[in-house]
Amino acid sequence: MEIVKYKLQQHGDERGHLVALEEMIDVPFEIKRVYYMFDTRPGIVRGMHAHKSLEQLLVCVHGRVTVLLDDGSEKKEVVLDNPYEGLYIANNMWREMRDFSEGAVLMVFASKYYDENDYIRDYDEFLKFVGK
Ligand code: TYD
Repeated sequence: MEIVKYKLQQHGDERGHLVALEEMIDVPFEIKRVYYMFDTRPGIVRGMHAHKSLEQLLVCVHGRVTVLLDDGSEKKEVVLDNPYEGLYIANNMWREMRDFSEGAVLMVFASKYYDENDYIRDYDEFLKFVGK
């Protein structure tokens, strides 16, 4: 399984830093939705689902989070701990987000509007869906 991380362009100067994301340029899809997770309680695991067609880019804009990716054959853990790195997650990928540091903010750019029908929330169903 290939981990696809995007190095986001920083526009830093003596005043501080800024990162801009433009669809089809910095993000490999048209951005239909943006959401972010914050105030995640210690010990909480979020995600625990896959998407049938949604693509996402995850950016930990503050703090640190560990993302587990599982394509049905292989599992990999990725730590996101800086605001200029984006983790691309294609469809058909089981994901879990854990070990949120205190104050962590995880921003997600998504290729589609929210659609519960696109979710696979049962792991066995996910394995079946990806032919494992
Ligand atoms: P949920 O899917 O449980 O978050 P995660 O799986 O990433 O831990 O989402 C929590 C709630 O927010 C759930 O009621 C659905 C709602 N929600 C939206 O309304 N729009 C969205 O874009 C997302 C991601 C969630």
